[in-house]
Amino acid sequence: MRQILNILKEPKVRVIGLMSGTSADGIDAVLVEINKKNLKVKELLFRTFPYPEKLKQKILQVSSASNPNLDEVCHLNFVLGEYFSAAALKLLKGSKYKIGNVDLIGSHGQTIRHLPKPTKSFGKKIRATFQIAEPSIIAKRTKVATVADFRPADIAVGGEGAPLVPYPHFLLFGGDKKGTAILNIGGIANITVWSKNSSQIMAFDTGPGNMLLDFLMKKLFQKDLDRNGRIALSGEINLVLLKWFLKHPYFSKRPPKSSGRAEFGEKFARKFLSQAQKLKVNQTDIITTAGELTVQAVFLAYLKFIQPKFKVEKFLLTGGGEKNLYFKKRLKEMLKPTEVESVNIKGSNPDSLEAVSFAILGYLTILGRPGNLASATGGKPTLLGKICLP
Ligand SMILES: Nc1ncnc2c1ncn2[C@@H]1O[C@H](COP(=O)(O)OP(=O)(O)O)[C@@H](O)[C@H]1O
Ligand SMILES: [Mg+2]
Repeated sequence: MRQILNILKEPKVRVIGLMSGTSADGIDAVLVEINKKNLKVKELLFRTFPYPEKLKQKILQVSSASNPNLDEVCHLNFVLGEYFSAAALKLLKGSKYKIGNVDLIGSHGQTIRHLPKPTKSFGKKIRATFQIAEPSIIAKRTKVATVADFRPADIAVGGEGAPLVPYPHFLLFGGDKKGTAILNIGGIANITVWSKNSSQIMAFDTGPGNMLLDFLMKKLFQKDLDRNGRIALSGEINLVLLKWFLKHPYFSKRPPKSSGRAEFGEKFARKFLSQAQKLKVNQTDIITTAGELTVQAVFLAYLKFIQPKFKVEKFLLTGGGEKNLYFKKRLKEMLKPTEVESVNIKGSNPDSLEAVSFAILGYLTILGRPGNLASATGGKPTLLGKICLP
């Protein structure tokens, strides 16, 4: 407890953010300094620690199986607790920063289920979500107070539990008097938009990000990803296939809404592949069409839900998909004349931004401030997370 009380006295705190998204590509670990007064953030260190291939496959398997083995899930929670702790400790290795000088850790954990659709269960209508990487392990190994498991609190107050990055997005990039959209293309893609005078803000998941592409790249090209969008750029869009999958009900659903593997995971990807094969679409065109689906989902969401309410003057891209040049090219073409740039023009790193967001969310919790936004999740603003002490 003394650690927590000390944090409150500090004008500047050092916080580690730990994040692994639905892509399960690895743990993003970042060390930031946050100014208590204005919540300005300075990034000090960043590294991604890729999961060993077998561990990645286990996470994907547990995340997709309708009946995963409970012993395995239970073990995986503790295994990932160890990996997340190791990521926090290795991040500082060889640098001038010592773990003893880190005030706090904010850990998102690894999502293995996200079920935001209200479902009747034993007489209760519930939403559910499940992030693992046991935070007690992180707190004990690092000896740093750890805030984790942010999403359930938002669900408890009527929200979808996601997206939670919008308020950090606003803290990081708001305030330049321009209608702005931050588009984060991870496994799933999410967008945060605010108006010129910041009086209105809205955020939701647009649908698949890289998830479908990654699956198809593995199946068709034995690669983890379409590096820089090279294959997507060399093929052509199959309109029949594209139109078929744009009919997915998620795209016309009104926000607030959030998504995950339940909607756009393996089952969806297998259906996409089998439909493509029935239509005799060649392998390269399958990748282009899958990439186009991500972009069209964003564009549809923009036309339907954003444009009627917001004048967006610039789009800032972030997440692993920021490096996909097919996404960039197509978004620029579709959103013309609106600017489409990377968050790096604002001095931010697209790879670390989500981890930075969870460092901020952890600190907000300690400050006693809500981290969620009603206009993003549908939940009342509330304190998020669970605190584990060293
Ligand atoms: N150089 C690259 N070119 C194209 N896509 C990339 C590149 N680097 C990463 N990605 C994509 O980004 C994904 C990871 O993005 P990330 O933001 O970490 O997502 P998540 O939050 O779901 O983990 C990878 O699975 C891959 O599809
Ligand atoms: Mg990732």
